[in-house]
Amino acid sequence: MQTSSPALASNPGAIQNGFTWSDDLLTGDARMDHTHAEFADQLNALFATPAVDQLPLYQAFLDHTVAHFAQEDRWMQATGFTPKNCHSDQHAMILETMQAVVAHYQKGETDIINRMAEALAEWFAQHAISMDAGLAQHLQSVGFDSATETLADPQAVRNVTVSGCGSISRS
Ligand SMILES: [Fe+2]
Ligand SMILES: [Fe+2]
Repeated sequence: MQTSSPALASNPGAIQNGFTWSDDLLTGDARMDHTHAEFADQLNALFATPAVDQLPLYQAFLDHTVAHFAQEDRWMQATGFTPKNCHSDQHAMILETMQAVVAHYQKGETDIINRMAEALAEWFAQHAISMDAGLAQHLQSVGFDSATETLADPQAVRNVTVSGCGSISRS
């Protein structure tokens, strides 16, 4: 993982020769943050690879992102989110776009992975500090341990229904 630079600290995710990690991206959930650091590392590996060699890395990145989003979706389901909620919808939309990129690349549009990586870098920074940080805060508030995927007290989510985005906003 790249270390944060003070100049970029107020602009998490800024692309300057790659995706710059910043502690501003931390959500407070250790397992989620670990997955996010892996996401950032794989994004940077793509930026560092010539377009003609990117497909195998991109496919591994796509697999990682499927697991990353499934993990968060699972935690939402375990803690009172409705199956249809805008955080999970956003995951599904991003995955659909990422999957479509493979076919375009295979048809000869070899700059498309770089364009997708740039779009994802921008998207991810915003997503991490809003929806993911909101989810991390929610998990903490209901006593959900993401390491073991268990609730300290299952009653804690008995009357919890989250149907919106579950985001938090930061000024
Ligand atoms: Fe995430
Ligand atoms: Fe997410």
